[in-house]
Amino acid sequence: MQIAEFGLERWFDEHEHDADLMLAESGIRSLDASRFDLDPGRLGYVIPTDGDPEFRAAVADRYGRDADEVAFTCGTQEANFLTFLGLLASADGPDPDRDRGRGSHAVVVTPTYQALSAVPEAFGEVTRVPLEPPRWTLAPDALREAVRPDTAVVVINNPNNPTGRYHGEATIREAYAIAADNDAYLLCDEVYRLLADDPLPPVASLGDHGISTTSLTKAYGLAGLRFGWIAGPREVIEAALRWKDYTTISPSLFGQHVARQALGRREDRILTENRRLARTNREITAEWVDRHDLDWLPPVGVNGFVTVPEGFADAMDFCRTVVSEASVVLAPGTLFGHPDRFRIGFGLPTEDLEEGLARVGRVIRDRNAGQA
Ligand SMILES: Cc1ncc(COP(=O)(O)O)c(C=O)c1O
Repeated sequence: MQIAEFGLERWFDEHEHDADLMLAESGIRSLDASRFDLDPGRLGYVIPTDGDPEFRAAVADRYGRDADEVAFTCGTQEANFLTFLGLLASADGPDPDRDRGRGSHAVVVTPTYQALSAVPEAFGEVTRVPLEPPRWTLAPDALREAVRPDTAVVVINNPNNPTGRYHGEATIREAYAIAADNDAYLLCDEVYRLLADDPLPPVASLGDHGISTTSLTKAYGLAGLRFGWIAGPREVIEAALRWKDYTTISPSLFGQHVARQALGRREDRILTENRRLARTNREITAEWVDRHDLDWLPPVGVNGFVTVPEGFADAMDFCRTVVSEASVVLAPGTLFGHPDRFRIGFGLPTEDLEEGLARVGRVIRDRNAGQA
């Protein structure tokens, strides 16, 4: 079994530590720990290890599901990883008495966060269904053509990283129907969902074939909690939990303690504050994109996928120049299969964003002046 190197993580590792400004983070800026009570009591495992049943019931309620249809994980990363293992690493599927989710083939809508294609590729086979630029629309017919009798899961990320495209409810319901007609699941990574002003119903609420994965990382600004979950049919949760005993055993106790507060009475305030920051920064970034004659799809969330300015060979050339001359990290679209684009993350504090954009603007001007 082979796993592809995670290009974006390696790029961050190379540049993030030394650079002044990070314009490549895909989530909203982090909240300060001082906003929360930080004393969970004794530092044992979370017991039961799939998460506190009452808290799971409260989370499950958001999906119209029961407590045992939710498992808490260390972030969305583990939620996706365990779900893929549970679905694809057993030829019998998650429930041998059912046909649903049988097989080791996955259909993955791309471009997307690399883990959503690389992990299923490691355990099974993947057919990619590309979103078409410049609007990054999903053609349901392309999904229909890609599913096979051994497709266990169709994978989508909505809102999408890196394009910021938010597929509408009709498209998601059609994708769900395609998966369901094929006895497969639709897995939607919804880690950016609550940054939308008007979020769609989560996929796990659509029926027996829907799985949602998410966390408090991107919309709440709480990446350091490493707290997320899978919501979906019981057999999917059970199959994922069989593997979780071998990965992290339980979610983080601190994560669960703070997550309970963030999803409680503080939630509205956190999300309102974060969406306001996202709106303000989106406008500033849109104005910058226009002023530099670049193109993007106005995104939902705090990630945009922008065309590489003229004067640079490709996204790698552009992003390497920006980090070395301006100490600002952007993410080359090359890492998402689109070398003519770069991903900009604008969820950081507004003054840092403005400083970062001004620096990147200077790099573009200098290059063009040098070539004039
Ligand atoms: C689509 C998507 N899923 C999952 C993750 C990982 O998030 P978490 O911190 O919840 O593990 C990311 C991070 O960038 C992401 O973009």
